[in-house]
Amino acid sequence: MEHKTKTARSQFTGRIGYVLSVAGSAVGLGNIWRFPYLAAKYGGGIFLLVYLVLMLTFGFALIVSETALGRMTGKSPVGAFASFGKSAPFRFGGWINAVVPMLIVPYYSVIGGWVLKYLVEYLCGNGKAMAEDGFFGSFISSNAGAEVWFLVFTALVFFVILAGVKNGVERVSKVMMPLLLLLATFVMVYSVTRPGALAGVRYFLVPRFEDFSIMTVVAAMGQMFYSLSIAMGILYTYGSYMHKDVDIEKSTEQVEFFDTGVAVLAGLMIIPAVFAFSGGTMENLKAGPSLAFITLPKVFASMEIGGVIGTAFFLMFFFAALTSAISLLETSVSTLQDELHLTRPVCCVLMALLMVVLGSCSAFGYGMWDHVLLFGMQILDFFDFLTNSIMMPIAALATCFLILKVVGFKRIADEVQISSVFHRRKVYEFFMKYLAPVCILVILLSSIANVLGLITM
Ligand code: PFF
Repeated sequence: MEHKTKTARSQFTGRIGYVLSVAGSAVGLGNIWRFPYLAAKYGGGIFLLVYLVLMLTFGFALIVSETALGRMTGKSPVGAFASFGKSAPFRFGGWINAVVPMLIVPYYSVIGGWVLKYLVEYLCGNGKAMAEDGFFGSFISSNAGAEVWFLVFTALVFFVILAGVKNGVERVSKVMMPLLLLLATFVMVYSVTRPGALAGVRYFLVPRFEDFSIMTVVAAMGQMFYSLSIAMGILYTYGSYMHKDVDIEKSTEQVEFFDTGVAVLAGLMIIPAVFAFSGGTMENLKAGPSLAFITLPKVFASMEIGGVIGTAFFLMFFFAALTSAISLLETSVSTLQDELHLTRPVCCVLMALLMVVLGSCSAFGYGMWDHVLLFGMQILDFFDFLTNSIMMPIAALATCFLILKVVGFKRIADEVQISSVFHRRKVYEFFMKYLAPVCILVILLSSIANVLGLITM
């Protein structure tokens, strides 16, 4: 029983369990409703190329940093920072990384509830109803309706975390991630073989240099950050569950490959389908909930086997949302265990209470509390803005400073080299030293400018 031994830290069984669990965290809403839209908007193939380069350099450096710090200290972010100093800046650095997942998981689970509702409706053969005008709007504003699905999704996440790291997180990820790949491939093959779909494939993949601008780089950078689950304490925590003989560099590469692979698959299933069934304009390809919950059900309704494709899509979407929510809750519970020295079940219950309170505010924020605006935003959007646009870049900066000013490259390299040669050490050091802090500042400023309406992403 993992929770009985308070001192022995849980561990993943090995590399496959680790890689699939981190991939489960990384592959989420971001891959499905954000990546295809951004790629189509910012130059197709050229966006993809910029994204790949950034991921293999900047993204690689940040993942290796967080994972190595987690494994070195054997702690979640608060404990990891505290291992190097007890003064206020260390406490701030640790807590900002730790609070992010606690604030994200409630509203992420509200969206998870929407996905679950759509999945169940498709399974019951009600796909056509999902495609009707106004369905989504009336569902999310239905108060009790949206709340119930949020609570069901939360209960699922809760029981997985209660089961522990090996029996819950790892076991679910090992089943769901390969299935997710299969489902995504199935929907993608159907989508790209529809008449008229090729124009969409071209739009997504062929580089359009005339659409390249500095915004291509800024958008790719922000997306990479979001998609790889950086700066949410997750990689610290999962790193702390990693065996010393698992190769950090290789597993990072495999996670990046998996995450980008699913993003590209999502692009290949969504963009051609939207092109073939409802005309290829950016207007039809909006990012966010309207794509998944309004546009796609209409596209599925006009397909011959739309019920099957819709079910496969929402099952895949559900796996993506669930495994990401699992990683957010695991990280939060792990921090509470480390810092409050309480048993795992108690920490699970504490987090579940927080999720119900904050998540219900987000769920009702589209219904009876829709007049409540925080800085002009609805409650769910506010939490999304606060965490993604403000707190995550600051959390990532804290990690950079911890490494640059306190830990030093040598100790990170020593940690990586416990299991293998650090092949890309030079790239790592160059990026951490010269580019990561600058890139993170660009992300912070651009996402604030986006919300203030100064730029549109
Ligand atoms: N990386 C995951 C995704 O792409 O959806 C998980 C995630 C990202 C969760 C951003 C929360 C978040 F704010």
